[in-house]
Amino acid sequence: MEVVIKKLDHFGRGITYINDKICFVDFALPEEIVDIEITKEKKKYLEGKIIKFIKTSDKRVESKCPYFKECGGCDLRHLIKEEQDIFKTEKVKEILFKFANIPNDKVKNIVSINKDNYRNKVVFHVKNKKLGFYKRKSHDLIEIDYCLNLDDRINKLIPDLKKKVKKENPKSIMVRVSNNNDDEVIIESDDKEIISNIKDKKYLITKDDFFQINKFLTEYLYDEVVKNIKKLNSKKVLDLYCGTGTIGIYVSDYVESVVGVEKVSSSIKSANKNKKLNKIDNIKFIEGTSEEVYPKLKEKFDTVICDPPRSGLEKRVIDTLKEMKPKNIIYISCDPVTLARDLKVLKEIYNIEEITPFDMFENTYHVECVCILKIK
Ligand SMILES: C[S@@+](CC[C@H](N)C(=O)[O-])C[C@H]1O[C@@H](n2cnc3c(N)ncnc32)[C@H](O)[C@@H]1O
Repeated sequence: MEVVIKKLDHFGRGITYINDKICFVDFALPEEIVDIEITKEKKKYLEGKIIKFIKTSDKRVESKCPYFKECGGCDLRHLIKEEQDIFKTEKVKEILFKFANIPNDKVKNIVSINKDNYRNKVVFHVKNKKLGFYKRKSHDLIEIDYCLNLDDRINKLIPDLKKKVKKENPKSIMVRVSNNNDDEVIIESDDKEIISNIKDKKYLITKDDFFQINKFLTEYLYDEVVKNIKKLNSKKVLDLYCGTGTIGIYVSDYVESVVGVEKVSSSIKSANKNKKLNKIDNIKFIEGTSEEVYPKLKEKFDTVICDPPRSGLEKRVIDTLKEMKPKNIIYISCDPVTLARDLKVLKEIYNIEEITPFDMFENTYHVECVCILKIK
């Protein structure tokens, strides 16, 4: 069946309509004419697979990765980088407008660089003593020899890791390298720490700690936070979901004091070591969930930084923000849908100043955002 692709959905799939019913076509681009076969028929939608291209888009590019399309890791390697940037900026605009009525002009252009080998961490899956990634939409394994998203120090380890899985047959193997040009590597079975730098700050991390995975862009993301901390003249800062204290430590030079809150015990231990490592004395860390700790804090903060997981802010955190009314909130989000859900409530008492997307997960449909809120 010949169809014209109208646009991309938020997962990077082509969209067309067949008898007014929406049909998603993997790896098809807007304005392309493709011959498709229907692979799934549901009440509300269809899914189609490309059989033949009749007309291809000038935004299409040949993927450099031999595993693309079969591997579930990347979604956009068939789209030129400039268009990936436009896709992500537009996606953020659409979601924030649709779910929180935030005008498009609040969303700035995405901050992005075009670099392979950006990931400092990976989780390889293992099946039948083979190492690789899950295939698209399945738990079947595609064995790989390298991945273009990964730091080359991880790629170089793959032959050894393959030998290891033949002997030990684990379910998965996590590997993490530092952001510095050194030999610091943690493999899941290691019980050790590595030091990774973000600009002049040093961070000690273990295998269990959260640490931003894009070794090139993280400093741009954190610089956006620093820029706003200075602009807002922040003095007393609360850093909720602080991980190993990364952001709090990064902004500590510009403020009077920082309190970081994190629920993972090992990350709090790393945060306290990072405080010493960077010789910082105006920061303290509290172990616990943001929803339990924040309502009990007696101190008054002018700026609250929130960097929650994909699930966004707990209702109790939002309720406490509404009650305590800090002058500014800097909300860092890795899921625009939960960001929109939370902003819809916060915007009752906050002005949404601006949202800056960051392309932390190049070649995938994922996008990170920094959102600045000021009390009305
Ligand atoms: C997206 S990471 C951000 C970490 C840190 N801000 C950074 O940039 O490195 C989210 C962090 O929140 C922590 N976390 C998850 N749920 C939490 C909760 N309810 N309260 C406090 N911390 C939580 C996770 O362990 C993780 O360290």
